[in-house]
Amino acid sequence: MRQHGYVPNAVNELMREVAEGRLSRRDLLRRGAALGLSASLMGTMLDVQGAGAQGTPSPAGAQPVGYSIVVPKGLRTDLKGKQVTFVGSSEGPGVPFEEAALKKFMDATGIQVKRISGAESTTDRLRFYLQIFSSQASDIDACMIDVIWPGVMEPHAVDLADVLKAENADFFKRIVENNTSGGMLIGVPWYTDAGILYYRTDLLQKYGFSNPPTTWDELETQAKKIIAGEKASDPTFTGFVWQGAAYEGLTCDGLEWQYSNGGGTIVDQDAKVTVDNDQAIAAFDRAKGWVNTISPQGVTAYQEEDARGVWQGGKSAFMRNWPYAYSLGQAKDSLILNKFDVTGLPKGSGEGASSAACLGGWQLMVSKYSKSQDAAKELVKYLASPELQKAYAIERSLLPTISTVYNDADVIAANPYYKKLLPIFQGGAVARPSTACKDLYPDVSTAYFTALNQIITGQAGDTKSAVKDLASKIQDILQDL
Ligand code: GLC
Repeated sequence: MRQHGYVPNAVNELMREVAEGRLSRRDLLRRGAALGLSASLMGTMLDVQGAGAQGTPSPAGAQPVGYSIVVPKGLRTDLKGKQVTFVGSSEGPGVPFEEAALKKFMDATGIQVKRISGAESTTDRLRFYLQIFSSQASDIDACMIDVIWPGVMEPHAVDLADVLKAENADFFKRIVENNTSGGMLIGVPWYTDAGILYYRTDLLQKYGFSNPPTTWDELETQAKKIIAGEKASDPTFTGFVWQGAAYEGLTCDGLEWQYSNGGGTIVDQDAKVTVDNDQAIAAFDRAKGWVNTISPQGVTAYQEEDARGVWQGGKSAFMRNWPYAYSLGQAKDSLILNKFDVTGLPKGSGEGASSAACLGGWQLMVSKYSKSQDAAKELVKYLASPELQKAYAIERSLLPTISTVYNDADVIAANPYYKKLLPIFQGGAVARPSTACKDLYPDVSTAYFTALNQIITGQAGDTKSAVKDLASKIQDILQDL
C-alpha cells in the first residue's frame, strides 16, 4: 500500500499487462473480477488480448483508443448521408478519443461528421463562435459550449429539451438549470469540471509529509521544502503550477483563491459586485507572492496545458488543474505514473475560509442556423448519452453529468478519486457568476482576469486600489443588465 491512502490505478496496470500479452485469460478474469470490472469491459479486454493489442494505444493504458465506447441503442438511421460540422476539443490529447467516438457514431447512423478543433483557450473559442453565429452562418451545426455561456448563446441555439428527455437519464439538476435560458435548454450537459489539487505522493513521502496540504499555508510550506531538496539535482524543479494567463482560466483560479479565503464571489446572485473586500485582496496578494517563489515566473502566462506540461514532466510538486489531467498522468509512458494523487484545493484563513473548487464543464449545443438540425441533435444525443459519458470517464477522466454513471464500477476503478471528491463533483463546486451577469458575463470575467493578471505580474502596483478599480469597472459593465 502507498502512503496517503493512494491506490495505484490498478485498471491501467491490468490493461498494460493485457496489451503486453503478460496475462493468461484466467488471470485476467480473476484480477478483473477482484477489481469489480464488469463482464463487458473484461470481454473487451479479452478481445484486445486476442487481437494482439492492435490500434493506437490509449492514454489510459495500452488499449486502443475508444475501446470502452458502447454505442447506445436506438440512434436514428434514417438520416444517413446528412452532414454535420461539429466543433469539439482543442488540438491536444483529447482528439484521438473524440475521433474514435465520432467514427462509431458515423458507422452506426450513416451521418457524416466533420470535426473541427476549437481553440484551446475558452476565451478565444467564444470569440470564434460569436464571429460565426453573429453573421448567422450555418458553418457550425453543433458545438461544445462552456458552462458559463448559456446566456451568451441563447440567441443562437435551438431548444434541446427533447434531446434531454430522450436520454431518459438522471442528469444533474443544477447543470440543467444552469443551461436553461429564456425558457430553452441551450445545451445538453456533457461533462462537468471542478478545480482540484494534484500532488506528488512520492515527494510528500520523501520529505516527511504524511498528508497533502489542506490550507494554502501548508501548501507553501510543503512546496518550499520539496523545492529546496529537489533543486540540488534539478535546478528547474518547481513547487506549484496553475493557470495565470489573462484568460478565462485565471477567472477560475482567482475565484478559488478568493472564495477559499472567505472573500466571496466576484458578483453575487443578485448581480451585486462583491469582489472588493479585504479577504479577497489578501488572497490575491498571496497568489502574487507565489510567482517566482514556489511557482515559476512564467506561470502568469500559463493555461491548463502549460501547467500540465510542467507537472507531467515531473517538474512540479503540486498542480491546480481539472480532472482531465488525471488519465494523462496515468498514461502508460507517463513519468509520474502512480506517483501522484488528487484532492480538494486548500483553504485560506480568516472568517468563512473553506476549500473551493470552481465549477467548470461543457455542454453540447445545436446552432439555430444549422441546416442539419436533426442530424446535429442526434450527434448531441449520442455524445451526451450515459454510454458515452461512461467511456469519457474511463478513458479521459472527464466527470459525468449523469449521477448514475458515478456508480459504475468501471468508472470508479479507472478513477478511484471520484468517490472521495463526489460531494464536490455532484454539486459542491463554486459557480462563476454567469447566471446573474447573463450575456454580460464575458465582459465581467475579462475585467476580472485582466486585473488579476496585472496584480500577479506586479503591473498593478497596489492590490487594494487595483481591486477597487476592478469593482467599479464591473459595476459599469453591469449597468447594462
Ligand atoms: C475548463 C472548464 C471551463 C473553464 C475553462 C477555463 O475547460 O471546464 O468551464 O471555463 O477550463 O480555462
